[in-house]
Amino acid sequence: MPTDRNDVTIVEFTMDDYPVVHVLWQRGDLWMRPSDGPEGTQLKLARDPALFLVAHDAGGRVVGTVMGGWDGRRAYVYHLAVLPERRRQGVADALMDELEERFRVLGALKAKTQILVDNEPSRAFFSRRGYLHEQDCEPWGKELVDGGAPPGG
Ligand SMILES: CC(C)(COP(=O)(O)OP(=O)(O)OC[C@H]1O[C@@H](n2cnc3c(N)ncnc32)[C@H](O)[C@@H]1OP(=O)(O)O)[C@@H](O)C(=O)NCCC(=O)NCCS
Repeated sequence: MPTDRNDVTIVEFTMDDYPVVHVLWQRGDLWMRPSDGPEGTQLKLARDPALFLVAHDAGGRVVGTVMGGWDGRRAYVYHLAVLPERRRQGVADALMDELEERFRVLGALKAKTQILVDNEPSRAFFSRRGYLHEQDCEPWGKELVDGGAPPGG
């Protein structure tokens, strides 16, 4: 069900959105991974279709996106991005309000995200929404296949 707010409509991502969303991720300087290709994106969509959201403006243009994950224990936020010319207009807040509500409906008690250490806009955004920089844990990872994502992916 689309949600209208702040002149944007939040809807679920479909693979038709992929070319535009991929450019949006790149314009947002997100740390792109092999899993951001069409096959990886399709896998993610199949896993959590109701948590992969896009924001449309009044003309139907994609102006922002966020990808949520729910594994039955934790909710994760990935690849929140807004078109540079549409920032500071509440688009990311609208996407996150919708995503967090969907997390709650699923039974999630906590949401987590990863922020690159020098990404001050993102730190400011998530901090304002009540996310805390948790310093008692650090992310660890292992590549499961040759040519998998580099550390952090
Ligand atoms: C981070 C990002 C998603 C925020 O999107 P946005 O639509 O501009 O955010 P909003 O307009 O909803 O901002 C809500 C509040 O967050 C804070 N905020 C957002 N951007 C900020 C910035 N650049 N500097 C300081 N505070 C900021 C403000 O408190 C803002 O409220 P205000 O505009 O009334 O002051 C956007 O800057 C972006 O796409 N960045 C590139 C991609 C990225 O880094 N994504 C995060 C990956 S972890």
